[in-house]
Amino acid sequence: MDKLIVHGGTTLRGSINISGSKNASLPILAGAILTGEPCIIRRVPDVSDTNYMIQILSALGADVERSSGTVRITCEDISDEAPYELVRRMRASICVMGPLLARKGRAVVSLPGGCVIGDRPVDLHLRGLEALGAKVEFEGGNIILTAKDGLKGAEIDLRGTHGPTVLGTDNVMMAATLAEGQTIIESAAAEPEVLDLANFLNAMGAKITGAGTRRIVIEGVKELHAVEHTVIPDRIEAGTFMAAAALAGDEVKLRRVCREHMKAITAAIEQSGHRVEFNEAGDVCTVIRGENLQGVDLVTAPYPGYPTDMQAQMTALLATTPGISVIKDTIFPQRFMHCAELKRMGADITVDNGTAVIRGVAQLSAAPVMASDLRASAALVLAALTATGSTQISRLYHIDRGYEHIDEKLLMLGADVERVKDR
Ligand code: EPU
Repeated sequence: MDKLIVHGGTTLRGSINISGSKNASLPILAGAILTGEPCIIRRVPDVSDTNYMIQILSALGADVERSSGTVRITCEDISDEAPYELVRRMRASICVMGPLLARKGRAVVSLPGGCVIGDRPVDLHLRGLEALGAKVEFEGGNIILTAKDGLKGAEIDLRGTHGPTVLGTDNVMMAATLAEGQTIIESAAAEPEVLDLANFLNAMGAKITGAGTRRIVIEGVKELHAVEHTVIPDRIEAGTFMAAAALAGDEVKLRRVCREHMKAITAAIEQSGHRVEFNEAGDVCTVIRGENLQGVDLVTAPYPGYPTDMQAQMTALLATTPGISVIKDTIFPQRFMHCAELKRMGADITVDNGTAVIRGVAQLSAAPVMASDLRASAALVLAALTATGSTQISRLYHIDRGYEHIDEKLLMLGADVERVKDR
């Protein structure tokens, strides 16, 4: 197991490229199951989650080749049972369920277990697939879905108690591409990653309109075909580096971003007193650390709201921002594991009922800390950049799930970080 040692106090300068989106890549890779023809997908980030998805596809019988960011997948002859050993490692593997069901008429996927960021049920995924005509059974920890006579289009409302579901929308949308007739998904997730998946599927011959809004309409087609697709930039990686630049930067440039997708994150960073400037094309942004800083109040919300996946990193930024900040996570109210670790570094944070109250302190100091999940580990790295002393962050595999070569990118910006093997 690797750990990261961050020697705090260096100023970040220069520019880096933002990678392709992890959360767009995962369902897009799974979407390749929908055709027997080759799918070429570019800018797939080299992170362990995409590697798990590729391993799942290979175990299902797909022919997969990967060369740097480009993945070529051909699912000519595939099995309908996703192997438990691989599926259990990553919750997002649930998104093979919809495509397997549509392509094979049957899908066996293990029921995802608990997750450190909170209870993560799949009831909405199943409700949607059932509405398309699938029979749902549970056996030995597996979900078994069958649709002997094929799937049929339906009107489905996917709203849950915490709002829309991203992967649930993806699963139902993918299954509906090959269903007979029209499917309407109401209360759909409108995240850019859902739109990217729809663009990928449409390029394969699907007939999807309304993706990126709360109402998606899918006209089923008989089959899908070969495709080449480039994944959108990772807005959460970009937001994480924006926060790093605001915390410890002089002037940091992030290339290959998408301004449109960054609005809520940009607004939050600007509200706390930093400057964010985009070029005219909106694909390069410069973050300039501000002088008159202030606390902010944020509530996470589905897109275009402030993303839950940037809650922990913003908490780290606000930990040393003067004033009182309040962050409420409405999507994953238990996603505050990073706060206990930040407190060990001297942060003043109280968490109650899904809300963190952060009183900005002048300075954090190094402590050995433990990453608990992907975004929590990013928050610890950010906090360590300006802390006095050397912070050791263990369980680095959490960060490797979703940040492509984060240590190398930080080094390029002048941070003093080293990855070492845990003994
Ligand atoms: N929910 C249900 N029932 C369901 C599905 C979800 O009640 O059947 C609830 C969840 O418990 C949660 C809310 O609905 O309270 C939203 O969850 P959603 O289904 O949208 O989450 P997801 O699709 O499983 C994706 C991202 C997460 C991100 C969430 C929310 C991927 C691979 N994962 O998960 O990303 O936090 O959407 O935006 O796209 C991350 O990258 O760190 C990460 C956790």
